[in-house]
Amino acid sequence: PRPILLTRHGESLDNVRGRIGGDSSLSEAGGVYSRKLASFVEKRLKSERTASIWTSTLQRTILTAHPIIGFPKIQWRALDEINAGVCDGMTYDEVKKNKPEEYESRRKDKLRYRYPRGESYLDVIQRLEPVIIELERQRAPVVVIAHQAVLRALYAYFADKPLEEVPKIEIPLHTIIEIQMGVSGVEEKRYKLMD
Ligand code: F6P
Repeated sequence: PRPILLTRHGESLDNVRGRIGGDSSLSEAGGVYSRKLASFVEKRLKSERTASIWTSTLQRTILTAHPIIGFPKIQWRALDEINAGVCDGMTYDEVKKNKPEEYESRRKDKLRYRYPRGESYLDVIQRLEPVIIELERQRAPVVVIAHQAVLRALYAYFADKPLEEVPKIEIPLHTIIEIQMGVSGVEEKRYKLMD
């Protein structure tokens, strides 16, 4: 059985500032993670003849993939982070202060809430469909380097989690979630490479 490795990008400058969305580059810790991830992937996929690295089109995932050598890399727009629309670039506190109705609507129904001029979790789940179809078709291992909301949706699909739980699944930074689809169902391992 072939593994699928899911990971968020290394810590970004926006993660450090607590800003949602954006297209920032990596923090120093994020850069360290990118190198640890590369050696992990190299060892884990050493015996595989083929494998591929999938990222979003955002800097932070592309930079995280950068130190990995020897495998083809593919960028998917469908793997980009949830579009926070008018709230892009804000901190959660700023959203609460400047857009209290939006903050409240999202708190009440995070799954269905759609950011004005942006997306909802349901939108993200829908746009991931072609990615999931392609992942299912792959015979070789795939390393998916993406974002919190997107990985919640992908993980929920493979781990068979109910829709309502998707927006609260924990996908920590600097951790690899390995999913193996065998005959007896799905097996999962987590590797925390750093804090
Ligand atoms: O904070 C990192 C981040 O990826 C943001 O860019 C994004 O808006 C957010 O996480 C998604 O998580 P949540 O749906 O919990 O706000």
